[in-house]
Parts: sequence; C-alpha cells; structure tokens
Amino acid sequence: MYNSVDSPFDENAPKLDMAYLKQRLRQQAQSRPLYENIAILGCGYVGSALAAYWEDQGHFVTGTTTSRERADLLGEIVSKVVLMKGNDATTVQSLVEGQDTVVVSVAPRGSGVADEATYKATYLATARNLVQASLQAPHLKQIIYLSSCSVYGDRQGAWVDENSLIFPNEARSQVLHEAEEIISQAASDNKRVCILRLGGIYGPGRELLGMFGGLAGMTLPGRGDRFINWIHRDDILGAIEFARLNQLQGVYNLVDDSQLTVHQQVERLCFKYGLPPVRWDSEQVSQRRKSLRVSNGKLKAVGYQLIHPTILY
Ligand SMILES: NC(=O)c1ccc[n+]([C@@H]2O[C@H](COP(=O)([O-])OP(=O)(O)OC[C@H]3O[C@@H](n4cnc5c(N)ncnc54)[C@H](OP(=O)(O)O)[C@@H]3O)[C@@H](O)[C@H]2O)c1
Repeated sequence: MYNSVDSPFDENAPKLDMAYLKQRLRQQAQSRPLYENIAILGCGYVGSALAAYWEDQGHFVTGTTTSRERADLLGEIVSKVVLMKGNDATTVQSLVEGQDTVVVSVAPRGSGVADEATYKATYLATARNLVQASLQAPHLKQIIYLSSCSVYGDRQGAWVDENSLIFPNEARSQVLHEAEEIISQAASDNKRVCILRLGGIYGPGRELLGMFGGLAGMTLPGRGDRFINWIHRDDILGAIEFARLNQLQGVYNLVDDSQLTVHQQVERLCFKYGLPPVRWDSEQVSQRRKSLRVSNGKLKAVGYQLIHPTILY
C-alpha cells in the first residue's frame, strides 16, 4: 500500500497534454531509426569503402558487384552480397525491397574508358530499373545517386554551379546527365533523390602521384591551364552520410576547394616528391579537353564541411 508520501502520482504535476504527446510520438515515428537497411549498388572503389563505414556503424548493408571474384571479398565487408547488374530488373527489384536507403555508385568495369554503348548499358538501364523498383518499395526513403561534374561539359575555365545550364559535349557525359534525369523521376512526397555530382576521385590507392607522376621531366604541349576538380574519397563518404542524415534532395556538386590548373597541380606534385618539373610548350597545340571550375557552395550552404578542402599529394 502507498501512503501519501510514497504515492507515485504527483498531484501538482502538470496534466498530461494529449496533443503534445501525440505530436512527440509523431516526431519519433518520423525520426530516423538508429540502424537502417542500406543497399549500395556498385561496391567498387567508393561503394566498398562506404559499405565498410556503414557496417561499422551497425547498419545492415547489402552490397552489389558484377564479379564472382569480388563477391567473396565483398562478403568480408557487408552483411549481404548480391551478384548482379543494374540491367536485371528483377534483381534490382528484390535488392530495393525493404531498404531505407539506396546508394547508386555504378561505373563501367575496366581500366580503359568505356564506350557510349557500355555507358548506356551501365547507367541508363540501372537508373530505369531503380525508378521502377522504387515504385514498389514503401520503406525506401532516399536514393543517393553518384553522378559526375562532367555533365557541365567544357566551360573553358569558367565557373559553374547547380543552376548552370548543362552542355555535356561528350556522348558519355550526355548519358550521365540522362541517367540523372531518369533517377530524378523516383522522387515523390515520401522519397528523396539526392544527386551528387563528383569531381575526379582520388584517395588511398588512387593517389595523384600515380596519375601524374609519370609526367615528371616531360615537355607537354600547351600551357597546362586546364582546371581539374577533385574530390577525396573521404569526402565522398562524408557527403553521402551527410546527405542521408539530412535527407538531402536535389543536385549538389561535390568537389574540393582547390580549383587548380593541371600546371599548378603537377608543379606542386613534382615539388613535393622531388621529381623533375614538367615543362610546357605553348607553341605546340594541346588536345582540347574540358576545363571548368565547379562551385561547391550549395553543399557548404546546407552545412557540409569538407574533410580535405585542398588536394592531398
Ligand atoms: N572515377 C572518377 O573519377 C569519377 C568521377 C566522377 C564520378 N564518378 C562516379 O562515382 C561513382 C563511384 O566511382 P568508383 O570509382 O567507385 O567506381 P568503380 O570503382 O569502377 O566501381 C563501380 C562499381 O559498379 C559496378 N558495376 C559495373 N557495371 C555495373 C552494372 N552494369 N550494373 C551494376 N553494377 C555495375 C562494379 O562492379 P564490380 O564490383 O564487378 O567491378 C563496381 O562495383 C560512380 O558512379 C562513377 O560514375 C567517378
């Protein structure tokens, strides 16, 4: 028996406000669960690092690969491996089922640059099947799609941001933009689609030394005045997690703050590693290649802070 002192009911406590309670319960229901089901379509360089990060956080990660050999390796990182290609509608459908978040990080396999047909088979088929699958995936809250700044085309060194018109002057970049437009169709009142347009990816195992070191001591045509935009893999992981936690929707550029020309980048690299400098011969005509400066202001404005604002050599 309770006496008045022991009573668990405090007569002076404020009356229970049912409207307030309902509002709190609604908020809780809407807030993100601690652990999620996440699928990463394309566990290559970026996807497998992302998978390892989210597994470590306790999420249930399903990762995909197209190769049997890589499936075993991936099995050591993720909770579930699916051997598949994005053009297989049925497998995409079952991959998406029950997921809270899907990240698309596909790129054609192989070291060389793939042709337009392979680009279409990789990017367009995957995007179309994902849109179809998302229509029947009530749990799915967000698709995070990795695209490329190459969709802006050549701007001869001018600045671009997410509002700039798109002029992909190569067929492959046109395919990437088409894939963006397709995947955007998955967005609805309760599904967000976030497209991250990445600069050139570098990081552990993809160092700039490996990409440019071989140029040391050479004389190259032109002035080296082309701007290349980079993004470290850590920041790709960071921005994807930021996009997930903040349920970002829409297009965001993802590049670092460096904004250096090839000339400046190679010069710094050679200096850092004590390599003979590259000489530029402006008398020789250089092959016309894309040059643009990509603004990362939109992503910063919503609160993302770059882990590596300048290039790590
Ligand atoms: N590399 C860059 O500098 C750069 C620049 C801008 C944007 N991006 C974009 O950034 C993302 C990540 O790039 P990454 O360097 O991590 O790519 P990656 O290492 O080449 O990995 C690509 C992944 O996609 C898978 N894949 C290939 N064809 C597929 C298909 N038809 N269906 C389903 N999966 C397929 C590959 O399977 P396997 O495991 O069998 O190889 C691999 O897991 C990509 O979306 C890419 O387009 C890259």
